[in-house]
Amino acid sequence: MDKERRIPVHVAIIMDGNGRWAKRRGLPRTVGHTQGARTVEQILEDADHMGIRYLTVYAFSTENWSRPDTEVKALMNLLRTYMKTSLAKCARNNVRIRVLGDKSRLDKDLQVAIANLERDTASNTGIGFQIAINYGSRDEIVRALRSAAEKVADGSIQPSEITESLISDNLDTRGIPDPDLLIRTGGEQRISNFLLWQTAYAELYFCDTAWPDFKKEDLEKAVDAYNNRERRYGGLIS
Ligand code: FPP
Repeated sequence: MDKERRIPVHVAIIMDGNGRWAKRRGLPRTVGHTQGARTVEQILEDADHMGIRYLTVYAFSTENWSRPDTEVKALMNLLRTYMKTSLAKCARNNVRIRVLGDKSRLDKDLQVAIANLERDTASNTGIGFQIAINYGSRDEIVRALRSAAEKVADGSIQPSEITESLISDNLDTRGIPDPDLLIRTGGEQRISNFLLWQTAYAELYFCDTAWPDFKKEDLEKAVDAYNNRERRYGGLIS
């Protein structure tokens, strides 16, 4: 790999194109998700080897509940299996897991498996792996604002103390640096209610590759594109 390449600290991914990948092969959409889950595990390892410190993936949005029951069940089962079987691998690779999103709507056993995996990997010091489940960025911002409003109501803070950093500290991503690079696979060019607050200054990268086909080379291409961008944060080129 090119030694000069700057590696983004935090990469976020909208993993799109699973359904179409399966359909093209005459397979049920759920097979696309199963293959997509394998891709997640491989890309996590690749990202780690490249030196990326945080990887965040959009696994299930607040809108995904409206998909057919069989598809929702299949996705939840994939996530359940991941939460229940990944501890040894996370320990071996020093991965720290955090789930973003409103967990209260998830099945109880999945909530418990998530809490256990988060607890048991919390002191790992390698790559931070965030999985967004029942996640919607607007919902996350509403929850953060509610929590700030409660603090104002009980007198523990003044309205003037509601700052950008207080809101950041009340998001599910608290303590995690904002993504430098947001990738969306599958050919669409939308943000789809993912990390709206956190991607204020992220570079956006869209590619046609369906998520199940996404490989280390595709991640490297995205990082190369990121390297070719001038990040100015609203300032001028110096
Ligand atoms: C979008 O593709 C993808 C999803 C809604 C689900 C993504 C979830 C996974 C890849 C599984 C995650 C597993 C782990 C272990 C984190 P789509 O179904 O909307 O594709 P389409 O646009 O081609 O229909």
